Amino acid sequence: MSDFASPDARNAFIAGLPKAELHLHIEGSLEPEMMFALAQRNQVAIPFASVAEVRAAYAFSNLQDFLDIYYQGMAVLLTEQDFHDLTAAYLARAANDGVRHVEIFFDPQGHTERGVAFATVITGITRALDAARARGLTSRLILCFLRHLDEASAEATLDEALPFLSLIHGVGLDSSEAGHPPAKFARVFARARALGLKLVAHAGEEGPPEYVWEALDVLEVDRIDHGNRALEDPALVARLAASGMCLTVCPLSNLALCGVPDLPSHPLRRMLDLGLAATVNSDDPAYFGGYVNRNFEAVAEALDLDRAALVKLAENSFRGAFLGDAERDAHLKAVRAYVG
Ligand code: HPA
Ligand code: ZN
Repeated sequence: MSDFASPDARNAFIAGLPKAELHLHIEGSLEPEMMFALAQRNQVAIPFASVAEVRAAYAFSNLQDFLDIYYQGMAVLLTEQDFHDLTAAYLARAANDGVRHVEIFFDPQGHTERGVAFATVITGITRALDAARARGLTSRLILCFLRHLDEASAEATLDEALPFLSLIHGVGLDSSEAGHPPAKFARVFARARALGLKLVAHAGEEGPPEYVWEALDVLEVDRIDHGNRALEDPALVARLAASGMCLTVCPLSNLALCGVPDLPSHPLRRMLDLGLAATVNSDDPAYFGGYVNRNFEAVAEALDLDRAALVKLAENSFRGAFLGDAERDAHLKAVRAYVG
């Protein structure tokens, strides 16, 4: 039973709760208003006449439906300033949501294949991250490989990243999951690990529990992104719980992409009850209806999460983050201080 006096009281508690966001695709934070502004600035044609028309197109029945629109939206991102502005807008919203630390995915192949240089992308993003750091919001950058492309393309992307390794903390795996198992990227992940990078992978969003096993045993990831379908396999749940493996769960994304029929059916509460280190994240907030606090509010209401569950989610976010021990401890202390 919820121990808040009202939904407003719960939302106020969520608003002030210190948290880390660990699953955020920066290209998925492109709001329709910015899409229009950048289309105009860069003289790029987009197949929409108004912001309302863009929002109306955001009715998805699965991951691929969304990805088709997501890659189309990226076409307006061309210059370093575009990537800066996109990132700065997300960071302002995150800070407003009480996010103290963020780990951001970017999809370089979505840009280099359109002729935008890797350097343009990472320089723009990094300039915004540096400005936010000066204001107290820390960050890590995670380069994602598009899994619908082949491993040679991922290898070439890692080659392009080499001059910028000091700016990149990890690699991830995103895009169309079905038919593209983690093992397809075994060699490039091994190379990334040898370079000292952290490893994460989307697994069990639409794909079967076997893909989560592969992410753990073949890629040797440090975190699982989503992981929802792990719940179908009790041995896998036991493995994830015993190892304290962080799951970056994205409730409004799961709802928008029909991974769950409604939020009361969302597995987050079950994950916590099973001892899994679940976190709450926004994935692609411009497309799925809200930033991190909106995800917390919606899932807390649907699952009647109490104060202890919300605190656990915030603690899990800092425990799962790629932070040094001192930084992690300071954030965990801030959570305890907030709870009182
Ligand atoms: N899943 C897989 N790939 C993605 C997503 C997602 O939710 N968002 C952006 N790329
Ligand atoms: Zn994602």
